[in-house]
Amino acid sequence: MSEVQVKKMLKVKSPGRINLIGEHTDYNDGFVLPGAIDKAMEFTIEEVDGNITELIALDINDSISFPADNLEKSKKGWANYCIGLLDLMRKKGVNVPAFKCSFGGNIPLGAGLSSSAALSCGFMYAVSEFFDLKLERLEIAKLAQKAEHEYAGVMCGIMDQYAVVFGKEDAFIQIDCRTFEHKVVQGDFSGYSVLLCDTNVKHSLASTEYNTRRQECETGVKAIQEFKPEVKSLRDATLEDLEVIKDKVSKEVIARCTYVIREIKRVEDAVEAIAAGDLIKVGQLMYETHEGLSVRYKVSCDELDVLAAFAKDHNAVIGSRMMGGGFGGCTINLVKEDQVEEFKAAIAPHYKEKTGKEVSFYDVKISNGVTAV
Ligand code: GLA
Repeated sequence: MSEVQVKKMLKVKSPGRINLIGEHTDYNDGFVLPGAIDKAMEFTIEEVDGNITELIALDINDSISFPADNLEKSKKGWANYCIGLLDLMRKKGVNVPAFKCSFGGNIPLGAGLSSSAALSCGFMYAVSEFFDLKLERLEIAKLAQKAEHEYAGVMCGIMDQYAVVFGKEDAFIQIDCRTFEHKVVQGDFSGYSVLLCDTNVKHSLASTEYNTRRQECETGVKAIQEFKPEVKSLRDATLEDLEVIKDKVSKEVIARCTYVIREIKRVEDAVEAIAAGDLIKVGQLMYETHEGLSVRYKVSCDELDVLAAFAKDHNAVIGSRMMGGGFGGCTINLVKEDQVEEFKAAIAPHYKEKTGKEVSFYDVKISNGVTAV
């Protein structure tokens, strides 16, 4: 009997993420408070004979093949995350041999749950484990962020990738986006559910506006540096500093910077409130974040505002706000566990009446970051 050679194979699970509070603070060296979730992408990576690498995106029925030593940008957006990462490895002096990798999962696309970070971090982790490249988790997050910058053109911060690789079951993580350290925040959320309400508006405007917001923050920092050179980012700035520059920069820049400075503080306040068991306070901070994102940072949209305003007036909810980059995607809501169904039944027709669209709901549990399965 001839022997069948069993090929090497590895399976990896890479989650999406939510963010309790701390929006648009990561690229300002601030704090964020995300968690990985129980919606994830699964990867199967396998050995192949020959020199052709094959990537298969099961959910969209698409695939791509290319010689392992010829990494060219593709017309397929999803493939560029993977090719980009292999190319970043090549630039580090690591030529990854050919392999076959297929993946798919249940993270809704374009809903602001970081399906792209799940893809890039999961892919990089799978490749690293499979070929024993010994990449540290933080290195994987940074490579994935770089791929987003260079191959998708979004100058994102580190939050999404960091949360995907370092997420911890049943806990949020407070990331210091300046030092890249985090601490696990394990509050008592019993009696409450984290409910996401999806506007079903895909955040397409997001990438250009996102990069503009980042530039507006940098403009504020440059103006402050004129009289306070030690200020490296909005993390170091105060509302008083903004008073000094208010005639030197546009009203928009002042509004953006005001939001960010307050939001960085809100994350610290939220972590304290969680430690004190004061979830009502956490919820109030979330409402303040929404107002800031909508009025001063201007990254919300009518649909998100309709959902957040309704939630604020409903007694089942203690906190609600838009989540992620903005211009669509989901709101995150802290809802009394025994009133979740009642709240869903109330908000759905209201949303339909105001926007003509359907709302979708995701009940999520906080889970571990990327891992082999
Ligand atoms: C997107 C980016 C993150 C972060 C959020 C806003 O999700 O990828 O880096 O900036 O927007 O908080």
